[in-house]
Amino acid sequence: MKKLIIIGNWKSYKGISDANAWFDAFSRLFSEKNHQWTDITVVLCPPYTLLPLSQQRIEKDHLPLALGGQDVSAFDEGAHTGEINTHQLAEFATWTIIGHSERRRDLGETDVLLFQKVEKAKKQGLRVVYCLQNEVVEAPKGVDVIAYEPPWAISSVSGGVPQNPESANRVCEKIVQKYPGIPVIYGGSVTLDNVASFVSQEHIWGVLPGNASLDADKFYSLIDHATQSQTHLLT
Ligand code: PGA
Repeated sequence: MKKLIIIGNWKSYKGISDANAWFDAFSRLFSEKNHQWTDITVVLCPPYTLLPLSQQRIEKDHLPLALGGQDVSAFDEGAHTGEINTHQLAEFATWTIIGHSERRRDLGETDVLLFQKVEKAKKQGLRVVYCLQNEVVEAPKGVDVIAYEPPWAISSVSGGVPQNPESANRVCEKIVQKYPGIPVIYGGSVTLDNVASFVSQEHIWGVLPGNASLDADKFYSLIDHATQSQTHLLT
């Protein structure tokens, strides 16, 4: 049975007061609506600076959210200015994204570096969401989730439009065949209006929204739409 996976990626957005407002709104919705989210994993990936606050809010408000990093260092503890290592990340998060196309594009991250990051993350016991831009890019062994994210579909790219769900499903199928047993999710301009059309595809087990995770109401509704479409499929 499909277990839905939703990974919210805040990218380099929000400061402390925005994050607190987000948690206030999300917690209010969660307690008011009292939805039972079963068979779903929701991971929130804020910037590093907001991980402690997010951890506190999730605990205090009893939210069914896991925390993830948006990246992690390929180095262990040491003289590596600006790096956050896997041990430091694991004090707050149980997941991490590795290989996002924005980091490959803006910071020149290569497959060799990304494979090292995955190795370190797995040694630390972190769960890894590894991003692939197409079915040809290779994923290292041991990743827990593969996120298929065509860079042209990402909302921050000018003219970024979501891929047609059927065609995204065909690419995800090829990835599933290449990496059997690893859940594949889709990312790229996912919204609460189109999420159901993605997660109802056979080979798409969830989504990785960026922009749509920034607003608590939108993100809550997106999760809700996704779970409802799954319930519908399962009944
Ligand atoms: P988007 O971002 O949902 O804003 O397109 C997705 C991503 O880059 O992971």
